[in-house]
Amino acid sequence: MNHIPVLLTEVVQALRPTNGEQYVDGTFGAGGYTREILNTANCNVLGLDRDPNVSKDVSAVSSEFGNRFSFKQIAFSHLEDALDGQKVDGVVLDIGVSSMQLDQADRGFSFMREGPLDMRMSSSGPSAADAIKYLESNELARIFKVYGDEKRAKKCADFIVRARQDYTISTTQQLADILSRALGRQGKHHPATRVFQALRIYINDELGELYRALIAAEKVLRPGGRLVVVTFHSLEDRIVKSFLRSRSEVDRGGSRHAPPQDVGKTAFSFSVPKRSGFKAGAKEIAENPRSRSARLRWGVRLDAPVWQGEEDLLPEAPSLGLLERRAA
Ligand SMILES: C[S@@+](CC[C@H](N)C(=O)[O-])C[C@H]1O[C@@H](n2cnc3c(N)ncnc32)[C@H](O)[C@@H]1O
Repeated sequence: MNHIPVLLTEVVQALRPTNGEQYVDGTFGAGGYTREILNTANCNVLGLDRDPNVSKDVSAVSSEFGNRFSFKQIAFSHLEDALDGQKVDGVVLDIGVSSMQLDQADRGFSFMREGPLDMRMSSSGPSAADAIKYLESNELARIFKVYGDEKRAKKCADFIVRARQDYTISTTQQLADILSRALGRQGKHHPATRVFQALRIYINDELGELYRALIAAEKVLRPGGRLVVVTFHSLEDRIVKSFLRSRSEVDRGGSRHAPPQDVGKTAFSFSVPKRSGFKAGAKEIAENPRSRSARLRWGVRLDAPVWQGEEDLLPEAPSLGLLERRAA
């Protein structure tokens, strides 16, 4: 299935592409946002994606837009390295997996398709099968709870640990069957939904990636530059919302009831024109159900140093480094 870009009109409205300016599309995917940005103004876009499988769309966009478009296969948390000291006028991120990734059975993202239990967006690092093989029961349970909000996380982990004593769990179907046995069928969602989401977030360090990319964007944006982020679940949205809040007047400028907190220590580095951001409307949701949970937030970089405060935006869960060491 082709990937339908979510909240495309709103993303471009928030980014305001302008002739002669330079933008980064940190989640190139099928190039939906990139094409629209390049069609809206005579500007340049650097696309990033950690997935090597996007190369067909990279070639198509290159042929269409020539040297106005360039691409690097790199994780978006490495935004500063990708730009090598250059400043930009906008950064857009469309977090999560693409329809192409979900649809390809051999990527192992979907419990609906039999395939290897992989789930890596890039082709390196430990896979979901490694997590299932090497993590302790309590570590798996923590991951399922924190990243999947799975209420019966411990039961899922116990069933997995029992099954792996008998055989190697290496396919999506094997894991989906174990979870069906652990949870039984109830409700409209497949019992494996939450655990699969949790494993995907963990294996790709999705929340850590997002947070580091926001920090990097704050550094590379010129004054007036725009940071535009589309997220698909509350864990991600909370990070974006808190990040922008701590750096904008919304939080520290105080309300009528509370005076500004740290003014003087560090000036605001973003303004947030629309606090609630945007959600997809009924028409878009009907045409593209994936947009149902999407939330767009954006901030405009102010002419101020990067924020110096302390924050703790990532939930506590086993680190990917732990698995990397065990699987090495
Ligand atoms: C939802 S899709 C983006 C779709 C794109 N906006 C479009 O219109 O075609 C997300 C893409 O971001 C990529 N991605 C996710 N996390 C990434 C990361 N940390 N660094 C680089 N790319 C990432 C995925 O590989 C995927 O191709």
